[in-house]
Amino acid sequence: AESTLGAAAAQSGRYFGTAIASGRLSDSTYTSIAGREFNMVTAENEMKIDATEPQRGQFNFSSADRVYNWAVQNGKQVRGHTLAWHSQQPGWMQSLSGSALRQAMIDHINGVMAHYKGKIVQWDVVNEAFADGSSGARRDSNLQRSGNDWIEVAFRTARAADPSAKLCYNDYNVENWTWAKTQAMYNMVRDFKQRGVPIDCVGFQSHFNSGSPYNSNFRTTLQNFAALGVDVAITELDIQGAPASTYANVTNDCLAVSRCLGITVWGVRDSDSWRSEQTPLLFNNDGSKKAAYTAVLDALNGGASSEPPADGG
Ligand code: XIL
Repeated sequence: AESTLGAAAAQSGRYFGTAIASGRLSDSTYTSIAGREFNMVTAENEMKIDATEPQRGQFNFSSADRVYNWAVQNGKQVRGHTLAWHSQQPGWMQSLSGSALRQAMIDHINGVMAHYKGKIVQWDVVNEAFADGSSGARRDSNLQRSGNDWIEVAFRTARAADPSAKLCYNDYNVENWTWAKTQAMYNMVRDFKQRGVPIDCVGFQSHFNSGSPYNSNFRTTLQNFAALGVDVAITELDIQGAPASTYANVTNDCLAVSRCLGITVWGVRDSDSWRSEQTPLLFNNDGSKKAAYTAVLDALNGGASSEPPADGG
């Protein structure tokens, strides 16, 4: 049995990652846990549109590179997050629409992907394009109003910009197979595969809480997407209250699907979480391991790692 999350996931060819915030890289408790436990990194905010292109045509990778360089210097791979999104747009982009916005989106994808060409294992090309609720509709946004084909244009642009990166569509509230948003995302991915739009993976954010609880049909969802011919990944996992059994279930769901590439939790300690009041992560504020940590590690090790197999081997 392995003693860290990353090494334990690697036993089955998977990774275990975390979101990293550049502002916390001077906190030695944070960096010692992150450096020890994880082998994949997502920049929590630093590769978003407002951070990387604060003025139109003027790219700034200083914070993004701090996260990227810390990851690589510590032997980790990097997921890119995210290139086209309705949220965290810089002011100049928020005020664009139509063909001008379409060109700005294309230029942004080209600018960021050129900077990291060959260095990012997976890019979240498009984030959160579907609406919540029962409609199964696209989310209203300036990008959506630029034309329904904005998502496929983003993916085609991304493929040309860096053919070595896996290109992912990423969303939340798409883990429960019965939800309309999940079905809408499934229909889009199926259509993209049928028409040859370049898509390699689907990211399930997996922010589970009382309004969006974990359901055991998540495994069915992962299996059904994988059957379309894309990889799947759990990209921003946090669970309200961090119940050990739910963390184990999610881990086992990924392990049950051969095309599940790995799991990323959305922060290190509860105090690092965007939803810290929910105490949703694997480490306490003092850096100690929670019960959920042990449950995940044991699952990655193939069952309860504290006990040897009954047959002794
Ligand atoms: C969140 C960050 O964690 C916060 O620090 C920031 O204020 C807002 O964004 N879905 C996503 C992530 O794809 O980028 C979001 O991250 C959480 C929800």
